[in-house]
Amino acid sequence: MAFKLNGVVPWGRTRNEYEKMFDLTEADRNKRIIGFGDGPASFNAEMYAMGKHVISLDPIYQFTTAQLQKRIGETCVEVIAQTKANQGNFVWDTIKSVNQLQEIRMGAMTRFLADYELGLAQKRYVAHSLPGKTDFTDNEFELGLCSHFLLLYAGLGLDFHKAAINEMMRICKEVRIFPILTLNGQKPDFLAEFLFFLNKDYQTQIKTVGYEFQKGGNEMLVIVK
Ligand SMILES: C[S@@+](CC[C@H](N)C(=O)[O-])C[C@H]1O[C@@H](n2cnc3c(N)ncnc32)[C@H](O)[C@@H]1O
Repeated sequence: MAFKLNGVVPWGRTRNEYEKMFDLTEADRNKRIIGFGDGPASFNAEMYAMGKHVISLDPIYQFTTAQLQKRIGETCVEVIAQTKANQGNFVWDTIKSVNQLQEIRMGAMTRFLADYELGLAQKRYVAHSLPGKTDFTDNEFELGLCSHFLLLYAGLGLDFHKAAINEMMRICKEVRIFPILTLNGQKPDFLAEFLFFLNKDYQTQIKTVGYEFQKGGNEMLVIVK
């Protein structure tokens, strides 16, 4: 099935947010990293500016800068309106207001867009839909990061999650997923079954981190070979 731009919700976070969500250390920053479902986050662009190397994988990278810019503008209006209507579901201590949220997100996505064509040329942005097999070799990455995609989109179902993580763990020695909450702010129904599946082949750990925006969303799932 074709991936349609008008069904996409591009909404991107910053390097600072990735660092907190995934508890990144200096040693982590120097690892070979891949971001799954990075979309219009500025993590890759900001890491590149620091001389670090990140590959980002997302189906939205099949679209042009102009197409993404237009869709980001449309999405921003929708997401900000929804956030205003549901302010009680979020923690407003670091990000103080909906206006500030809009500034931070639009700043991240503007940074992403400015880096997008260079990053495509350098193959730092790779258009790909999980759970499809990637072109990367086994254990090519030391660290895989998955922010606000798996588990958050629990509606994709357990089978999708199993297939996606199989491919992610084929190419990564370790994967971190944040948050362990769905879009409704609940733990995914299939979490216990998913952990049981993972624990057959890998070691898993749920770690509390220093980032919480969705209420209760301050944990990451770490999966290690
Ligand atoms: C809410 S955004 C999160 C973006 C970024 N990770 C962040 O936290 O700022 C979810 C991303 O998942 C991507 N996505 C959706 N389906 C996907 C799939 N099948 N494989 C990989 N990425 C997918 C979307 O295109 C979107 O960019």
